[in-house]
Amino acid sequence: MKIIIINGPNLNLLGRREPEVYGHDTLEEIERKIRMEVEEPGLVLSFFQSNGEGEIIDALHAARYQDECDAVVINPGAYTHYSIAIRDAIASIQIPVVEVHLSNTHAREAFRQVSVVAPVCRGRIEGLGWRGYVAAIRTLAAMG
Ligand code: DQA
Repeated sequence: MKIIIINGPNLNLLGRREPEVYGHDTLEEIERKIRMEVEEPGLVLSFFQSNGEGEIIDALHAARYQDECDAVVINPGAYTHYSIAIRDAIASIQIPVVEVHLSNTHAREAFRQVSVVAPVCRGRIEGLGWRGYVAAIRTLAAMG
């Protein structure tokens, strides 16, 4: 099974960006921890990060139509709250997509409490830090 983990804008700055909200791990450290936690035969993970809406949309299209991924885990960052284009891309690809957020967006500003992508995702995990990605990957792998 192939799962791609897509991270959106500003997540390349993890470790330096608002560590009191997002923790001290860099994105590379988080990716390493995820690989260590979920390593199992037959499960292939790939990681992609972009600050650009179009590149995230292209990665979603490629997951389904080029790389033939079986599932997607996505943290769209701030795009979560307003990108209808990313929402439409998720709705277009007909493979399970799980939305993950490091922080508990419902405990933060009102504008973060809206997710325009949530209605087209299979599920949503938030507030559990990097372990939220692990939970999403394990669940998708178990569901097959
Ligand atoms: C985030 C939450 C978003 O509101 C924010 O814009 C981010 C990170 C999270 O992982 O907690 O960039 O998606």
